[in-house]
Amino acid sequence: MHDYEDVLIVGSGGREHALGWKISQSKKVKKVIYANGNGGTAENIQISPTEIDKLAQYANENRLFTVVGPEVPLSLGIVDMFNSYDLPIFGPTKSAARLETSKEFSKQFMNSHSIPTSEFKVFTDAGKATDYVERIDFNAVIKADGLAAGKGVFVSNNKTEAMDAIDQLLNKKIFGQASEKIIVERKITGEEVSLMAICDGGSFVIMDPCRDHKRIFDDDLGPNTGGMGSYSPVPEITENDLNYISDKVFKPVIHGMKGGGSPYSGFLYAGLMIEKHTGKPFVLEFNARMGDPECQPLMMRMQSDLFEYIKAAEKQSLDSMPPFEWKDKFSTCVIMTSKGYPDKYETGYAIKGLNESPDNDLMIFHSGTKLNQANELVTSGGRVLGITSLGKSIDEAMNKSYEKVREISWGDNQQHYRTDIGRKGLEV
Ligand code: GLY
Repeated sequence: MHDYEDVLIVGSGGREHALGWKISQSKKVKKVIYANGNGGTAENIQISPTEIDKLAQYANENRLFTVVGPEVPLSLGIVDMFNSYDLPIFGPTKSAARLETSKEFSKQFMNSHSIPTSEFKVFTDAGKATDYVERIDFNAVIKADGLAAGKGVFVSNNKTEAMDAIDQLLNKKIFGQASEKIIVERKITGEEVSLMAICDGGSFVIMDPCRDHKRIFDDDLGPNTGGMGSYSPVPEITENDLNYISDKVFKPVIHGMKGGGSPYSGFLYAGLMIEKHTGKPFVLEFNARMGDPECQPLMMRMQSDLFEYIKAAEKQSLDSMPPFEWKDKFSTCVIMTSKGYPDKYETGYAIKGLNESPDNDLMIFHSGTKLNQANELVTSGGRVLGITSLGKSIDEAMNKSYEKVREISWGDNQQHYRTDIGRKGLEV
């Protein structure tokens, strides 16, 4: 049995910064190293998350316990590779990660295990998909089967929009191989909520709910992004709802994946839609990882030692662990992006107003940042920073986050952020 105390976090986003920050607080962890991290993470190695053979070599030479953040290395089989060298790693195998990497696998799995999800059909032929959309009497959501960096889902409001999405995916093949197959499913109207759990192949421990804000502009307007902000907990999700989702979603996933020969170990994310008229939760998607930016407020609120749970998952003894303990506080994470994101944007601007705060209730998690040759912190991506606060109320957490957000800028007002992260929580 391994008992390593130095941890390698694979990834470079705000999720990985938050995971590493939390894991580094464990008494069992000496040091956290990021591959390849960002301008806010203390110790980075310049190996890309997709260079899985180099990562295995580095982890072996330095006796590291590896935690995988994003989905791409999982889809490349990083966990299978580490397992074959008997290197300790936390995350699902390539086969188990199909819950995220193939929407077709995921929907069919849900159907065969009676997990609530909307009705769907799979197409490879644009003509047949278009005929189907002509006939249905509901609005459709069109999804690329494979990974498309969070951009493969088209929510249509009418038949023209649905047909345009089919054309983009199947005829124009905008995501190449990832969109050679598509899923057309019934659109469910309501509010989304993200639920995550840590799993060990046979059991799981669920986390508190969180809510992401996927659209670029206030009031959920504009194009989808990787996530513009989040808050946790989600006041309208009750203990009963959580028990229901545990029983109807997470339990059947764990049992079904084990029964199907691909036991699921790692973080599992269920993206749910709570249907407006029925209050019933439907699974929109599974992700084989923590959400970004959902991870940031969850890490701020978590009292328990996450690394103990990760080690328990590695030993397949999660069933002996108590439920996670959470700070009785709200947390909001406001994402600051480069102006123009999710389309074209410029990078390389020096970030002003960042001076790290000594306050334990405010964390700035970095994503698209780096140190340039002059050792200045500059922007280097679309999503740049996640200003994450804790407060006794959502109001207090929001005010704290936004007070800091207003102090930060780059270029000639080249930053963008939503001003309503957390507002839905106030409206309950
Ligand atoms: N926040 C959405 C995701 O992580 O996929």
